[in-house]
Amino acid sequence: MKFIKAKYNGFTHKILIGNKIHNELILFLKKHEFKSKLCIVTDKNVAKYHLLSLLKFLKVSKIKFEVLVLNPGEKTKNWFNLKKVVEWLISNQVERNDFIVSLGGGVIGDLTGFACSITRRGMKIIHMPTTLLSQVDSSIGGKTGINSLQGKNLIGTFYQPSLILSDISFLKTLKKREYLSGYAEAVKKALIKDYNFFKWLENKDYNELREDKNIIDIIYKSCEIKINLVQRDEKEQGERALLNLGHTFGHALETANHYSRNLLHGEAVIIGCCLALKLSRKLNLINSKQCERIINHFKRLNYYTEIKQTNINNFTAQKLLNIMYQDKKVVNKKLNFILLKRIGAGLIQKDVDADIVKKILTNSIKG
Ligand SMILES: NC(=O)c1ccc[n+]([C@@H]2O[C@H](COP(=O)([O-])OP(=O)(O)OC[C@H]3O[C@@H](n4cnc5c(N)ncnc54)[C@H](O)[C@@H]3O)[C@@H](O)[C@H]2O)c1
Ligand SMILES: [Zn+2]
Repeated sequence: MKFIKAKYNGFTHKILIGNKIHNELILFLKKHEFKSKLCIVTDKNVAKYHLLSLLKFLKVSKIKFEVLVLNPGEKTKNWFNLKKVVEWLISNQVERNDFIVSLGGGVIGDLTGFACSITRRGMKIIHMPTTLLSQVDSSIGGKTGINSLQGKNLIGTFYQPSLILSDISFLKTLKKREYLSGYAEAVKKALIKDYNFFKWLENKDYNELREDKNIIDIIYKSCEIKINLVQRDEKEQGERALLNLGHTFGHALETANHYSRNLLHGEAVIIGCCLALKLSRKLNLINSKQCERIINHFKRLNYYTEIKQTNINNFTAQKLLNIMYQDKKVVNKKLNFILLKRIGAGLIQKDVDADIVKKILTNSIKG
């Protein structure tokens, strides 16, 4: 098992990464003399595969629990379910120092984290992320939230967990597409911050990326990079924005596609990274050899590297551009992008000319 300590403004917590580490939850609760009922929020898919084994551990350790099982999927991150979780917690008579567990992917983590941040002015939360995406990204850094009718993640808080338990045994039941969607968030971190991490990943194929030892290293390295950025810039006033590589483009594609499952978040991020590379080339930032290395890595894993017309509801480049103007990263109608100077060195590029972006989009849309 590996562990990392995250320190934010005087508050610290651990991230434990390992295989079959349920016992760590028990040890943590015992250490904190937890005597109440443990409230666990999860979704139906996770419950089907992984809830029973966790509950067995709790029973053996004589820890009482209650479980709330929600529907899976992005649509669950809404006001209705926020209210449901909050009211459920209160009806279970949770007290301010009790721990709540989120057992699931980024959807359950973001929603439960948000609910915990506002219930009784702040309940303590333990994240048990069950997707690769949530283990390498969403459980770390304290962003919580739900979606608004106007867009994704527009309502939320910054709220750090007390513990993150990343158990790679959960990942065994993840489908290939879901796994690779999460991997996109890991390779993105290598691209913006760590050349050696990319070099280590570069020639691995899908099967190698699913080997236990490699998964632990991928999660560990990703956590390290994200924590370093968040520690320096918790509220995303500057450097933390580097983590949005591929996301301004990617979100536009996801919005055009109505967040349908024919384009998963990580798949959109990879296409977004490819578009960001084109833009980086156009602005003479990165050389073509480095671009090729990155694209080759994406192709080896069979990601789409161009925009498929059917994946964006036949939206035009102009329509995609309009969506980007509504993005949170737009300041005074100027487009800001995260681009690459070289592998391992991202930068925030302000005031990008919309015409250049439109041309890149136009050339990247394939039939
Ligand atoms: N807070 C942050 O900093 C941050 C960062 C990145 C993404 N996010 C958010 O994370 C969400 C995406 O996360 P996600 O990809 O984990 O989505 P998700 O939670 O919807 O999980 C994806 C699918 O996998 C299923 N699943 C979960 N664990 C499983 C397992 N072990 N085996 C089989 N199936 C399993 C889920 O039921 C769901 O159907 C988005 O809402 C995004 O906005 C947040
Ligand atoms: Zn993302």
